[in-house]
Amino acid sequence: MNQLDTLRQECLSCTRCGLCSGRTNVVFGVGNPQSDVLFIGEGPGQQEDLSGEPFVGRAGKLLDLMLDAVGLSRHSNIYIANIVKCRPPQNRDPLPEEQEECIKWLEEQIRIIKPRVIVCLGRIAAARIIHSDFKITKEHGQIFEKDGIKMMATLHPAALLRNPAQKPAAFEDFLKLRDLLAQPENPGN
Ligand code: URA
Ligand code: SF4
Repeated sequence: MNQLDTLRQECLSCTRCGLCSGRTNVVFGVGNPQSDVLFIGEGPGQQEDLSGEPFVGRAGKLLDLMLDAVGLSRHSNIYIANIVKCRPPQNRDPLPEEQEECIKWLEEQIRIIKPRVIVCLGRIAAARIIHSDFKITKEHGQIFEKDGIKMMATLHPAALLRNPAQKPAAFEDFLKLRDLLAQPENPGN
C-alpha cells in the first residue's frame, strides 16, 4: 500500500469532529498522487457523501468539463480533496473547529502529494489555505506562494451553477492555471 492509501485507511474511521456522526462515507480524495496540481474544495455534498468521491454531483460535472478544457482530469493528472472529509448537515459551511480538526488530514495529503500548485475551489477553501480574509470575487485568479507552493483560488463550480454569468471569469482562471503549469519548475524544487 502506498502512503496515501495508508492515510486513507486511517481517515476512513476518523471521529475527530462531530461531522463523523452524520456521514455515510468519508470523502478522502481522488486522483493521481503524483500530480503537480491539487484542487481543494469545501466539503462533501449529498452525492459525495453517498459515493465517497469528491465532486461527483452537478458541480463536479461542471468542474470536470472545465478541467478537460485545459487538459486536466481526475483520472490522470490532478488530485482533488476537500477541507472537511465528512458532509456537513444540510450542506452548511463547515465550522471553524471542524475545519481545524480535519485540516490535519489535508496537511498529510499535501505532504505526501507535494503539489507544485494548489487550486482552491471557492471562498471557504481559499480562506483556510491562502489567507483568512480572502475575497473570492476580487482575488480569484491571483497567484500566491506559500511554503514553496504556488496557490490560487477560483470560483466554486456550485456558485457558477447558481450564477452562470461568472463562468467566463472562472474559465480565465483555468487558462491561467494551464499557463502556470506550462512554466518550467524552478531549479531546486
Ligand atoms: N462541493 C465541494 O466543495 N466539494 C465536493 O466534494 C462537492 C461539492
Ligand atoms: Fe474526521 Fe474530518 Fe470527518 Fe471530522 S470531518 S470526522 S475530522 S474526517
